[in-house]
Amino acid sequence: MINEELIRRLKAARGQFVSGEELSRVLGVSRTAIWKHVEELRQAGYRVEAVRKAGYRLVAAPDRLYPVEVQDGLKATRFGREVVYFDAIASTQIEAHRRAEAGAPEGLVVAADVQTGGRGRLGRTWHSPPDAGIWMSLVLRPEVPLARVPQLTLVAAVSLADTLAEHTGLSVGIKWPNDLFAGGRKVCGILTELAAEADRVHFVILGIGLNVNQKEEDFPPELRARAGSLAMAAGRSFSRVALTQRLLEGLETDYDTYLREGFAPFKRRWEARAISLGRRVVARTPGGEFVGVARGIDDDGALLLEQGNGTIRKIYSADLDLHA
Ligand code: BTN
Repeated sequence: MINEELIRRLKAARGQFVSGEELSRVLGVSRTAIWKHVEELRQAGYRVEAVRKAGYRLVAAPDRLYPVEVQDGLKATRFGREVVYFDAIASTQIEAHRRAEAGAPEGLVVAADVQTGGRGRLGRTWHSPPDAGIWMSLVLRPEVPLARVPQLTLVAAVSLADTLAEHTGLSVGIKWPNDLFAGGRKVCGILTELAAEADRVHFVILGIGLNVNQKEEDFPPELRARAGSLAMAAGRSFSRVALTQRLLEGLETDYDTYLREGFAPFKRRWEARAISLGRRVVARTPGGEFVGVARGIDDDGALLLEQGNGTIRKIYSADLDLHA
């Protein structure tokens, strides 16, 4: 277990030495204990320099979604105020669900470096290798009717796309309902799962899978043609910690706007990023396949598909393929 207070003290010194004596006094433990904690920090990926007489100095922090890292410099007030981190877990969705059921507050983030059973939409798996991506689940407790939850997913997609575009300089598009594309490949997926009664949403788990620093060869062969990362699209790598902070800040602002003003402010933003609008698509729905031109989305987030005879069909749940 890393000692978060020790990290905070070392960070506060901004690269200067802090003496072992001072650390031992403020943390209320022996100097030997400080030394042991520093070893643990090193195991966790921190670079800490130790110099006799001078003390300890933080040289570099790892780019991992440790609570203390995500929270250092985070401007959101609720989203990410509580973070639970795992080096490896089956799926952050399952853990977030469990904690939400046990009463976790809105804004709790469950993050992991590796997922051994990452879940995707429509029963698929989500490839979640180490050191490369942001795999996190956010607990939400929106007071909205069940039927409006799909809108929330679209709000999240717009929010993430706008933040990513701003932070990376990449052009980021959305494929309905909520796949984010950059450099012609899918870089981010969103999985919304919820617990509800007929008329009341208990909680929503917003699962975000963002490929940040993978190289092409890091993807399994069957994904290579379609999946990409921000680094592949931009030709440089990104800090997962900084990205997570900006994403949580954007999500919190947009979520609050949505609760206050509804979906209207997001419809235009969503359509401005949509890569399927005006194009012929195939929508594979549970009720069959439909071909048509994607015209937009309506107020409940359904895709408006113009079919051959000019009629508009509303698509609520589907996988979309862009027609050649
Ligand atoms: C998709 O199929 O496009 C959605 C992928 C969602 C993946 C994320 S990674 C964090 C969270 N935990 C999971 O098991 N899945 C979601």
